[in-house]
Amino acid sequence: MQNAIYNPYFGFTENPFNITPDPEFLYRSPQHEEALANLIYGVRGRKGFIVLTGEVGTGKTTMLECLRDYLDSLRTEFAFIFNSRLTPDQFFEMMAYDFDLRCDRKSKTDVLFALNALLLSQAERGRTCVLLVDEAHNLEWDVLEEIRLLGNLENRQGKLLQIILAGQPELDRKLDAPNLRQLKQRIVLRCTLNPLEPDEATAYIETRLARAGMPNQTVFTPVVLEEVYRRSRGIPRIINLICDNLLVTAFAMEQKAATVDMLNEVCQDLRLEWPGSNRDKRGKSRFGVDEDLLNPTKLTSLGD
Ligand SMILES: Nc1ncnc2c1ncn2[C@@H]1O[C@H](COP(=O)(O)OP(=O)(O)O)[C@@H](O)[C@H]1O
Ligand SMILES: [Mg+2]
Repeated sequence: MQNAIYNPYFGFTENPFNITPDPEFLYRSPQHEEALANLIYGVRGRKGFIVLTGEVGTGKTTMLECLRDYLDSLRTEFAFIFNSRLTPDQFFEMMAYDFDLRCDRKSKTDVLFALNALLLSQAERGRTCVLLVDEAHNLEWDVLEEIRLLGNLENRQGKLLQIILAGQPELDRKLDAPNLRQLKQRIVLRCTLNPLEPDEATAYIETRLARAGMPNQTVFTPVVLEEVYRRSRGIPRIINLICDNLLVTAFAMEQKAATVDMLNEVCQDLRLEWPGSNRDKRGKSRFGVDEDLLNPTKLTSLGD
């Protein structure tokens, strides 16, 4: 990740508001804490299916990254599927790559055979394996069905493969469909991430600044913090965008603190809308922001 232009000016050792999900910058809000505890509990308890939902930018991928670190520390085998627009064949191939299965990865039969061998050998050593699927709301029905079948693999101690599906709220609606009834019945744990509360948004910003090298921040005044919350609606990804752009602006104006005027300019540049803003209503999402802003792949030009 490129260093932000303003880092030396403010004395940051790292970018405080990167858009990438980085466990190092984790802010443990009660709901993030609970979600992570649930994921860990589900995996350790061999619960089978766990579903994590939340609007875009609320921290789902960050939670999966934290879980990934946890699994790494235990040397637990896992596969992380982050591209969910897959055919069943591609799904098996990707899973085989990620689990590093030595087999003909293009053959579903071979992959299933090798996976089963891995699951059993791990189980013999008292270990479980985990399949993490991000953006799971995009999964096709036939892939979801294959995933459901993977969830059937078990021995006497419980499920051999723990499956975590993370996605936008559409995932919940998808799982309500009659043809997925069997999968839905298998879900033992559900967690939801909501936008942050006002005091959490402030703590979130302060945690990130502290982690980047500014323990007692003076850049964002209480008034600005309140406005950042209002305009971001407490969505971490949008908070990051706004704060990063505010720091760029303050730096450019040779100011050590951000002002509401700067915030107005930033919000205008980002074409941001929030309740009470009088901007054009076209092309906005449920959260009142331009959909492009919420799409991480389109954000490269916006200070990421
Ligand atoms: N609890 C948190 N602590 C620190 N940063 C967070 C937290 N939740 C979200 N973020 C940040 O917000 C942005 C969006 O998070 P992400 O996990 O990509 O959301 P989602 O996957 O739900 O769209 C990222 O920059 C991420 O680092
Ligand atoms: Mg994500």
